[in-house]
Parts: sequence; structure tokens; C-alpha cells
Amino acid sequence: MSSAAPVSAASLYVHVPFCAQKCEYCAFYSEASSGELIQRYTEALVREMELTAHGLRPHTIFFGGGTPSLLNLRQWERVLQTMQRLGLLGAAEFTVECNPATVSADKAKLLRDYGVNRVSMGVQSLDEGLLDRLGRVHSRDMVFRSFDTLRRAGFANVNVDLMFAIPGQTLDIWRATLDEAMALGSEHLSSYEVIYEEDTPLFHQMQAGEFDVNEDLACAMYDELLDRSAAAGYRQYEIANFARDVRPGETPSAEPPDLIPRFACRHNVNYWRGGDFLGLGPSATGYIGGVRTKNWSNTPLYCEQLEKGRRAIESSEQLPPLRRAGEIAAFGLRMNAGWPFADFQAVTGFDLRDQWRDEMTSAEQRGWGVRTADRFHLTRPGLRFADSVAEMFLR
Ligand SMILES: C[S@@+](CC[C@H](N)C(=O)[O-])C[C@H]1O[C@@H](n2cnc3c(N)ncnc32)[C@H](O)[C@@H]1O
Ligand code: SF4
Repeated sequence: MSSAAPVSAASLYVHVPFCAQKCEYCAFYSEASSGELIQRYTEALVREMELTAHGLRPHTIFFGGGTPSLLNLRQWERVLQTMQRLGLLGAAEFTVECNPATVSADKAKLLRDYGVNRVSMGVQSLDEGLLDRLGRVHSRDMVFRSFDTLRRAGFANVNVDLMFAIPGQTLDIWRATLDEAMALGSEHLSSYEVIYEEDTPLFHQMQAGEFDVNEDLACAMYDELLDRSAAAGYRQYEIANFARDVRPGETPSAEPPDLIPRFACRHNVNYWRGGDFLGLGPSATGYIGGVRTKNWSNTPLYCEQLEKGRRAIESSEQLPPLRRAGEIAAFGLRMNAGWPFADFQAVTGFDLRDQWRDEMTSAEQRGWGVRTADRFHLTRPGLRFADSVAEMFLR
């Protein structure tokens, strides 16, 4: 496979495929850690950066997983020094995903020193019983301690991930978790309804009838999320994502707010808006100049390829422009702002008002969408059924 450096990409994603232990519900490509493989992966990642990322000046960087905070200090230093040598640092937004069990003051300081300015912390719940039920490695106390550690290290932009509709979670437990999590005062909140991913222990438990899935309760929890997060000063900008425009205690700007809140995750906005991105690490996808690539979802194989000086690409495909435009339409509609027609045309070369006129009309008739003079966006019920809307817009 070619090792030619990409000309430019707005964003860089790095996948870290290790976790302290695998959670019951999770289908992300990651496995319980083995010290030796993590070390081998670190060197392979360095090699992959050398092969691909030279000259890249990403506006956003995101280390996701898996659990990137599981890499030890030496491994992080190796990766960050490589990025420095290759001129990759200096992004406007540099996020690292952390698990509350693997945040230390030393690691937080090191990340800050190299320009990491945003942390996304997987919390999921603040109920001990549910944390246990989900197979999480941390307690609720560790969440509060880690959050403090991050603030003390100078992280002024933190996201908290929560999950709802967890088996055994009542509306009262969900309200309490939401309120306690928002009281931390994070700049950003992501909150996902549990997805029963095939081949996860939770999926098998559901199939075995160990619990009932209650769709009405899930809807009530989502409504609670929308109402409480708004009351706490977060603005929803995507189905599962909420961000502040001002921190608690700050004076709001006199300017009218942007369509997208100030502390929105710029990296994810770039995905949803159809921007290019380079993806490194096992299982990572990238999209540059109309070509989608996907790395092997197999860490030893990924390492082996890079040790031989080759990229670890499993597949690479040039997407037909209309197909890619359909995907971009569907992704962008996950955002509350929807698609400004001019922006969509600038990114894809297609006019939403020509190619997707009937779909917009049909979504409006169902009460799922609203078309204004300059954009098309989904309504509150439409966002709830965004997957069905996405089906309509794909080509
Ligand atoms: C890759 S994890 C990153 C955080 C870190 N690995 C951790 O869990 O602490 C990203 C987020 O996806 C969400 N997630 C993962 N699997 C999910 C599922 N099956 N259903 C709903 N949300 C899920 C969780 O909220 C999780 O924090
Ligand atoms: S949710 Fe996070 S910690 Fe749990 S297995 Fe998935 S990636 Fe790992």
C-alpha cells in the first residue's frame, strides 16, 4: 500500500484499541490490555504517523478508543514527541478520551504540556449498581476525583459521556445521574441511549430474556435529558451532544449565539459536516479527497504491517460523489442546525433543494423536518427518528 502523505485533512483521528476490561455493552474495537501488545502498538503508531502524517496540519486531533488514557507516561511521551517532531501539534482542539480509572495527575500534566486541551471522560452512570452491571472498572467516586484531577491540571474543556435506558435504570436513577453529572460543570455532555450491539454480553442477556427493553421509558429518559440539560445551560447541537456557550459564572456574550455552541466538539462537527480526516490505529477509518480507507481491526496484524514499513489498510474505496453527498446529508442532519443549503453545496457540489426535494417534503409532512429560506433541519421528533431520516437521504 502506498505511503504517500495526504495533502491536507482538517482532522486527525487516532484509535487506541485497549481497555482495562471490556464493558458488557461495547462493540468498539478494543480488547483488555496486555502490556507487551500496548508497547508494540505504540511503536507501530509512531511508524504510521511517520508514513502518513508528515506535513499534515490538522485543526482538530482526537485520540479515541478503546481507552487512550491507558497508555503509560512513557508511551504517551513517545507518541507526543513523535507528533512534535512531525509538526502535528498545535491543533485548535486536541481531545483525548479517558476512563476515570486511568487518569493520574502526571498523565494529565503531560497531556496538557503537549497541547491536549480537551478531555472526554467515559462516565456512563453515577449509580454504583449500574456501573457494576455495565462492567465498568471505576466507581462513582473515581469519576469525581478524576474530574478534579483534570481541572487541577488545567483542562478547561471537558466532556462527560453518559448512557441511558440501561437495564435496571429507573427514571429517578437517571435524573439523579444527570443532575450530579451536570453539577460537575463540564463544558460538554454526550449522552447515548444504550445500543444492543450484536455479540456483546448485554445483547445476549437481552436475547435470553433477562430483562425487558422499554421503549417508552427510553423516550421519557431522552425527554428528561433534553429538558434538564437545557435548564442547566447546555445547548443541544446533535442528537446525543450538548455544549455550553458560557461557563457557569461567565458573562454571556452580547452577540447572537452561533448555530453551533462555543464548546461543541469541533472534531465531530467536522465529521458531521463532511470534512476530510485521516484515521490512524487499528480499525480506524479515514476519508481524504473522496477516498475512504479502513485499517485492519486486528492489532497484531496492524503492528506486523507497520513493522514491515507498510500501512495497515484493509480496504480503500473511492466513493461516487452522489453517494458520498447522501451520506454527508444524512450525517449533517443529525445536528440541530441541519444543513444550510449553501454550505452543503460548497462541501458536496450538490444542491439539497434539487436532489433531495422530495425527501425534504416527505420529512416535513411527517413533522420531522423544517425547511426555511436558507436551510433544512430536523425537529425534536425528527431528531429522535434521525436514523429513519438518514435512510431516506442515502443514495
Ligand atoms: C469509545 S467510548 C470512550 C470512553 C472510554 N472508552 C470509556 O468508556 O470510559 C465512547 C462512548 O460511547 C458510548 N457507548 C459505547 N458503547 C455503547 C453502546 N453499546 N450503546 C450506547 N453507547 C455506547 C459510551 O458512552 C462511551 O463513553
Ligand atoms: S465503553 Fe470504553 S472502556 Fe468500555 S469497553 Fe468500550 S471503549 Fe472500553
